[in-house]
Amino acid sequence: MNNFTFENPTKLIFGKGSIARLATEIEKNRRILICFGGGSAKRNGVYQQVKEALKDHYTLEFWGIEPNPDYDTAMKAVELARTNQIDFLLAVGGGSVIDAVKFIAHAIPYEGDAWDLIKDNSLICRSTPLATVLTLPATGSEMNHRGVLSRRSTLEKVSFITPYSFPVFSILDPETAYSLPQRQLSNGVVDAFMHTMEQYMTYPDHNILMDRWAEGLLMSLIETGERIMSQHHDYDTMANFMLCASMALNGFAGMGVPQDWATHRIGYELTILFGLDHAQTLAVIYPALLRVLKKHKRDKLAQYAERVWNVHTGSTDEKADIAIEKTESFFRQMGLRTRMSEYEIPAEAVDIIYNRIKTRGVSYGENLLVTPEVAREIYKNAL
Ligand code: NZQ
Ligand code: ZN
Repeated sequence: MNNFTFENPTKLIFGKGSIARLATEIEKNRRILICFGGGSAKRNGVYQQVKEALKDHYTLEFWGIEPNPDYDTAMKAVELARTNQIDFLLAVGGGSVIDAVKFIAHAIPYEGDAWDLIKDNSLICRSTPLATVLTLPATGSEMNHRGVLSRRSTLEKVSFITPYSFPVFSILDPETAYSLPQRQLSNGVVDAFMHTMEQYMTYPDHNILMDRWAEGLLMSLIETGERIMSQHHDYDTMANFMLCASMALNGFAGMGVPQDWATHRIGYELTILFGLDHAQTLAVIYPALLRVLKKHKRDKLAQYAERVWNVHTGSTDEKADIAIEKTESFFRQMGLRTRMSEYEIPAEAVDIIYNRIKTRGVSYGENLLVTPEVAREIYKNAL
């Protein structure tokens, strides 16, 4: 087991009706900027609940944070916050609104060029407190220290990690997610599933609890994922899904374990260049990554086949193959495509992306297995 430090200061407030808790969780003297996406919060009644809870607070609103939030949009909110002496931020939405708010929080007190904070996270040493009302179970951003920001003007999508990104609290009312369209439910299940896999599917590491924790999450996501496709107004189904998504990426699944994350990193390229949703990129890349790296991941794949998919016959190699097939068919069952060509991404994309990764001189994955050359193999395999 690797050495690790675990800390997660985010208070989780979970359950129906809990948006009303905003009234008491934020001090009365705070000047709050509430940030939203494109309008779903107004259509499903979440906005009205938030406004009602904060009717005795000073609030200002910022609307229009897009999926895969953009630096330029976030900087408009930074300006608004600075002009109005904002000292507390509230994100109401999915991972995009939350991630943008994390960046806005750090940028408000920063005097230099705010993009530097993304390039060098160690520059983030002051921030603005933030909280969230989550409306889309998927990213785990409501309870972690991660964020992802895009800059379309320079074709970049970059993640940032800092302890200043932990929300003070997050409110999770499963009923807020009833209005999610099928596409976002599919995305959410696959994203949470992949967060678990990125921390689990490496090599056997004798971390008994983390293995069982991850396998428990995967099995719960398979069970609730299948159910949520037809019953997304069922409270307990949505509550289970929401809890799984937060638990998949809040540090609890990652204690002392080797981690992968190559699929996430190389998937960002498909979003910024071709506009795929985050989870769509994962469903396309991951089966290909497993096929390309099977010999490195074989033993763990066989363990996953046995414990998660109940495969008890065949050699280790055969179990690994079945594990890959089961994973791909689960993504398809969730309604996602698993090939780049199904999104009409041309074969030339492989070398375009390869050259971008090569120029950066980076490698990804456990033991940095995914060099730019291996990434090219994965993209080819995903065509
Ligand atoms: O903008 P509005 O109108 O609110 O609509 C949103 C958006 O169009 C809609 N939506 C959200 N809640 C809804 C709803 N529609 C109906 N009812 C509701 N209750 O859903 C659409 C997608 O929202 P978005 O926030 O973009 O989705 P998601 O939560 O999947 O976030 C994706 C972003 O998070 C990043 C991704 O890269 C991407 O930029 N990630 C962040 C992570 C983190 N911070 O830890 C980890 C992840 O791996 C991921 O990379
Ligand atoms: Zn993700």
